[in-house]
Amino acid sequence: MFSTHFLDLPPLKHASGTVVLPGSKSISNRVLLLAALSQGTTLVHDLLDSDDTQVMLTALEQLGCKIVKSGSSVGSTVEITGLGDANKRQYLPSANLYMGNAGTAMRPLTAALALLASGTTEFELSGVPRMHERPIGDLVDGLRQLGCQIDYMGQDGYPPLKIKAATSYQLNKAIKVRGDVSSQFLTALLLALPLIATQDIVIEVQGELISKPYIEITLNLLARFGINVQRDGWQKFTIPVGSRYVSPGSIHVEADASSASYFIALGAINTTADDVFTSKISIKNDSTSNSQALRIEGVGVDSIQGDIRFVEAAQAMGAIVKSGPNHLEISRGAWPLKAVDLDCNHIPDAAMTLAVMALYADGTTTLRNIASWRVKETDRIVAMATELRKLGAKVVEGADFISITPPAAVSDWATAPIHTYDDHRVAMCFSLAAFNPAGLPLRILDPKCVAKTFPDYFETLFSVVQTNASAIPVITIDGPSASGKGSLASNLAQQLGYHYLDSGALYRVTAFAALQQGLSLEAKDEVAIAALAANLVEKLHLRFEGDIIWLNGEDVSDDVRSEAGGMHASLVSVLPLVRQALIELQHSFRALPGLVADGRDMGTVIFPDAALKVFLTASAEKRALRRHKQLISKGFPAILDTLRVDLEARDARDSSRSVAPLKPAQDAKHLDNSDLSIEESANHVLNWWQGKQRF
Ligand code: DC
Repeated sequence: MFSTHFLDLPPLKHASGTVVLPGSKSISNRVLLLAALSQGTTLVHDLLDSDDTQVMLTALEQLGCKIVKSGSSVGSTVEITGLGDANKRQYLPSANLYMGNAGTAMRPLTAALALLASGTTEFELSGVPRMHERPIGDLVDGLRQLGCQIDYMGQDGYPPLKIKAATSYQLNKAIKVRGDVSSQFLTALLLALPLIATQDIVIEVQGELISKPYIEITLNLLARFGINVQRDGWQKFTIPVGSRYVSPGSIHVEADASSASYFIALGAINTTADDVFTSKISIKNDSTSNSQALRIEGVGVDSIQGDIRFVEAAQAMGAIVKSGPNHLEISRGAWPLKAVDLDCNHIPDAAMTLAVMALYADGTTTLRNIASWRVKETDRIVAMATELRKLGAKVVEGADFISITPPAAVSDWATAPIHTYDDHRVAMCFSLAAFNPAGLPLRILDPKCVAKTFPDYFETLFSVVQTNASAIPVITIDGPSASGKGSLASNLAQQLGYHYLDSGALYRVTAFAALQQGLSLEAKDEVAIAALAANLVEKLHLRFEGDIIWLNGEDVSDDVRSEAGGMHASLVSVLPLVRQALIELQHSFRALPGLVADGRDMGTVIFPDAALKVFLTASAEKRALRRHKQLISKGFPAILDTLRVDLEARDARDSSRSVAPLKPAQDAKHLDNSDLSIEESANHVLNWWQGKQRF
């Protein structure tokens, strides 16, 4: 996950390959609650692992459910043991439950807990400040008609809430609930009312029900848990007397159809492969596939999620979509995309993606019937209008619609930092603007907000998109031994969310491997050492994992990073064939979204086109002191004076060698960090970097 303050996307060109999507948020949180209300254990496969599901899991655990997690980064498996039958439920503990900004946890839990509270048990439900601005009054009114005891702890109509036991339930009259603000109120009642179905319970929807597909998901999942709700049109729902939650034992969560929308759109705006030069060294996932279609695994058009109908909207705009069992294949059809005028009530979340696709359309696109955008993670109509305008679009917004006219000419495109309003969908859909025809980069602020539903969104995006190698930004940090290059470069890489290349480590590993194989580090073995260097990854399985260096499955970090390791590296690094052999590997680190590379010749030889080159120095005395401290802290023996003499000897050798000697690039910025902390040095470089951006 990118936990940086911002993420800069270089201009993107092309997409190919396959994405595997995480599980659906809507299905995950419904299934978790239904499993919690059932007796016995339910195994939930491919559960979405995100902020919103974590909120639900934590709450259920606080209420006494047993939860055992296992699984991978894409989908986890969770074994959840429900709260059991009515007798056991008498003993539910009082609890303060934190709902974050998860509407799919807040609403159904409010309903369920209002019916589960008994005796002196009390529940408090609260969330982030935005959650306290999201209306819940219609649901509370519905529950109060039944006899539930719910108090507002802040403003009337909004969380936080305090829930106490009801004395009795009024089940004779139909429960009335508004359907035109959020379908989640009806979903909450449908999920929870079977708890008290001692007679038929009737729910009547007031007003036109919005987001009907989400109600279909609810009814579908209730049926999987043994509850067959009778439905008369979309106005009246009856929960039959005697309804009981029965766990299906195990259940799979479909991939998230709303998350699919970003990749469906990506397929639709994708340039053809011939339009773009792709570098064979820097492009992941591109070597085998030159196909024009982007494949999405985890959902097909027969998905139970309403947002799958985004496919039809994308097709209307020009996408070519093929679907098979549990997968989609998307490619570009019409270009520019076709402007559309669409009622988006049935796809409220995915429709945000259409708003960004509208930037690539041949006229004005209008998305209608989207009033629910105003009560989501943020006021999404305002958010989308504001951010689309920053890119040069003309936008008209109304109470329940948005109209987008793309920039008239390529030169009318603009770029600016995109605010994301703690709204995952704003961050994800705006990433698609990086395909702009003006070739402008794009800055996404607070990219980690995608964690709500798709923590690895950007990594997944980068695994299928490509651009010219030269468009991928590189910052080089060159300088003498122990000048602090490594600490500075890795700090910068972390702050920018960029990859990090410690080129010295490649020379160190090469020398280490050569000695292991009984070679001398001198010119007579140059050819053999170069052969090793050329195959560090393929044959010797070199792998960097955080600070750990793996070679042939062994952690060689300490040996490679020792003082002797540095001296040995200095010897092999004067051999021209060795330097040549390492070039391709170093270039391969230049991958999206960017690279910070440290070494001796990063700015002069390896990345001469780097956007920012820094030459980092510090006095020999300071460098010896730092290296001394570093070695002692790792438990290596070290003598300060010897270190200083060794450093100066290495400086002399690195600077005087004939191939790629240590010297500043002509266009390098010089930074003497003798008296600077790592953070201060990083701030200097980030200021230089910012000065070069178009934001
Ligand atoms: O940065 P370091 O101490 O890990 O580097 C070890 C040796 O490798 C150093 O003495 C010079 C050599 N080196 C090089 O020649 N070119 C680079 N880009 C990086 C390191």
